[in-house]
Amino acid sequence: MPNITVFPDPDAFVHGAAEFVCGLAQAALAESGRFAVALAGGGTPRPVYALLATPAFADRIAWDKVHVFFGDERCVPPDDERSNFRMAREALFDHVPLPPANVHRIGGEDDPAQAARAYEQDMKLLFRTQAPPAFDLICLGLGEDGHTASLFPGTAGLREQERWVVSQYVKTMKTWRVTVTPVLINAARNVVFMVKGSGKAEILKRVLAGPYEPDVLPAQLVRPTSGRTSWLVDAAAGAAVR
Ligand code: 6PG
Repeated sequence: MPNITVFPDPDAFVHGAAEFVCGLAQAALAESGRFAVALAGGGTPRPVYALLATPAFADRIAWDKVHVFFGDERCVPPDDERSNFRMAREALFDHVPLPPANVHRIGGEDDPAQAARAYEQDMKLLFRTQAPPAFDLICLGLGEDGHTASLFPGTAGLREQERWVVSQYVKTMKTWRVTVTPVLINAARNVVFMVKGSGKAEILKRVLAGPYEPDVLPAQLVRPTSGRTSWLVDAAAGAAVR
């Protein structure tokens, strides 16, 4: 059975998720002096990031030793309302002493393929490795179609075996995205899925308890080689997996 925590309500979920991230940050900082995290986009994590920005959480983290990346980005400018960077900046970066140089943004405004290459190069520079780097934490969401990051059903990124980051046109969304690949995700020390709301109950059950069909359910590709996957869900999303 997966490592899943079901919180009784959305507030408890947000608090639990913030505590989870903060706890891993403190552990990584104590162990290695750095916390390298990739944030999820979308709507679910926004209140979690906002809570992390409050003193009760932010004062426990040495932000100058935190490096923030993103699991994916929409190919839009950083001030676009669809930008995952903008969401995280408004909810978190603008409220904590995180050095701007420690925010590793995907160039949503750039050519998608070039942005993917530059982002992967940015990771190589920080981690100083040619092997997929072991993020301390990669945060992911779950779409109602089973996607995670921007690994959508039927897209080429699902089969990527070498690159850590790819760009792809997502037909169902009619938009270009840049996304980390399963190669990078599965090298992480910790992966956490944050899933909230009754709309996710069915897909969560299929991903966790249904047949393994990653082309249809890309979130099933998340199987860290030596890392740990945690599922944090509220009662509404977890209703079908109890
Ligand atoms: C994005 C995210 C995406 C998201 C899921 C769930 O860029 O939108 O990376 O993978 O996590 O679509 O989104 P919600 O949390 O808004 O339901």
